[in-house]
Amino acid sequence: MAEGLAVVIRGGEVIDAVGRRRADVMISGGQVVAVEDTIDPSGTGTAVLDASGCVISPGLVDLHTHLREPGREEAETIETGSRAAALGGYTAVVAMPNTDPPCDCAAVVQQVLDAGRSAGLCDVFPAGTITVGRAGTSLSPMAEMRALGVRVFTDDGAGVQDDGLMRRAMEYGRGAGAILAQHCEVDALAKGGHMNEGEWSSKLGIPGIPAAAEELMVARDLALAKLTGATVHFQHLSTAGSVELVRAAKAAGLPVTAEATTHHFTLTDEYCASYDSVFKVNPPLRTAADVAAIRAGLADGTIDAIATDHAPHTQESKELPFDEAPPGMLGLETALALAITELDLPMERVLALMSWRPAAIAGLVAHGGPIAPGRPANLCVFDPAAAWTVDPERLASRSRNTPYAGRRVQGKVRHTVLWGQPVVIDGEAQR
Ligand code: DOR
Repeated sequence: MAEGLAVVIRGGEVIDAVGRRRADVMISGGQVVAVEDTIDPSGTGTAVLDASGCVISPGLVDLHTHLREPGREEAETIETGSRAAALGGYTAVVAMPNTDPPCDCAAVVQQVLDAGRSAGLCDVFPAGTITVGRAGTSLSPMAEMRALGVRVFTDDGAGVQDDGLMRRAMEYGRGAGAILAQHCEVDALAKGGHMNEGEWSSKLGIPGIPAAAEELMVARDLALAKLTGATVHFQHLSTAGSVELVRAAKAAGLPVTAEATTHHFTLTDEYCASYDSVFKVNPPLRTAADVAAIRAGLADGTIDAIATDHAPHTQESKELPFDEAPPGMLGLETALALAITELDLPMERVLALMSWRPAAIAGLVAHGGPIAPGRPANLCVFDPAAAWTVDPERLASRSRNTPYAGRRVQGKVRHTVLWGQPVVIDGEAQR
C-alpha cells in the first residue's frame, strides 16, 4: 500500500481505554482522522481494510522483548523480531539490553534505534542496562541513554545482586526520570538450578530454583522503593508469593508496577517432564498454584501488564541437554491468542494488560492511547473468534523455540497499522 494513502478500517468494533463502540476508523498522514458509525470511502481513492467481526484496538505494547541484535543475529535480528511483533499485533516493543555488547551506553542505544527505524515494522524502544556490562558492579551511564529517550533500565537475564548498588541505581534513576525494571532472582539461591524447585524437579532429578530466589528480591526492591521513592517495575513475576508481596505493597500505596509473561499463566513445571528444553525458561515455569495466583493477579490489577519475554534461541542451542540449553521461549506471535484463549477476562481487560497499561508504564505516549482524531495511528485489528493452530514453521521469528507447537488457540491478528501505514494486512507482513 502506498505511503501516506488514506485508509478506512471498516466494520469493526473499537475497543480502547475509553470503552467499546461500533465504528469505522479513517487514518491519514500517520494519524487517526475520523472515528464514526459509518465512513463511506467510495470515490475518495481511499484504501479499505476489512474489519468485519474484528476488534480495532490501540497497537499492543510489549515491555519485554529480546531482539538479540547486536551480537546474536543467528537467533533473531531487529528486523525479524519486529516482523514477529507486527504479526502479533504489536506496534511497540521494549528491547531488552542483554545483547552482545550489552545496551549499556549511548552508542548501542543509537544502533538499536537506527535498526528499529530502518526495519520500520514496529517502534523499537531500547532498554538500557542498570550496570555496566550487566556485570552488577558499577552503574551504567543512565543520563546519556536517557538523553536518547531511554526510559526503562534493567539488567534482565540477571537481577542486580548488590543491595547498596541497587539503592544507588534507584536514587539516581528517580532523579533522571528512569524506570528501574528488575529481573528478580537471588543468584545465591538460583545458581545451578534449571527448573522450578519442587515435586517435579525432585522426580526428574533436575536441580531446581526455589520460589524464594524471586520473592527475596521482590521484597528487597519493595523496601528499596519505599526508601528511595523510585519508580520500580517488576519483570516476569512467576510465583504466588511474589504476587502477594506486590498486592500488599500496592495496597499500602507504593507506586510499583508488575508484569507477568504469557508462559507463566499458561504452562506449569510439569511440562519439563518431557526433558524438552523448549520448556526451560527463566524464571522457570512454576506450579499450578503459582499459575492460578498469576491469573488472579492479572484479573485484580496486582499485575499491570502481560509481557512476552520473547527470547529466541537457535535450534542447535535448544537441542542441547536440558541443563546445558539456554533458557527462553518465543512469545510475540502467540501472546494475544493465548491471553484471549486462556484468560477468562473481558476483552477490555486483556487489552489494558497488553496495550494501554504497558504503554503508560514505559511512558510511550504514541502508543496505547484512545482511538480518536488527532491521535497517532498505531493500531491492531484482530478477529477474536478465529481459531488457528500454532505451527513453529510458520512463525516470522528467526528462531523456532515456541512451547506452543500444535496448540489450538483463538484470536488472530488481521491487520497492524504503524504510524498510519498498514505493516500487516490480512495476516501478511507487508515488508
Ligand atoms: O528465559 C529467559 N531468557 N529469561 C531471561 O531472563 C533471559 C532470556 C534470554 O535472554 O534468553
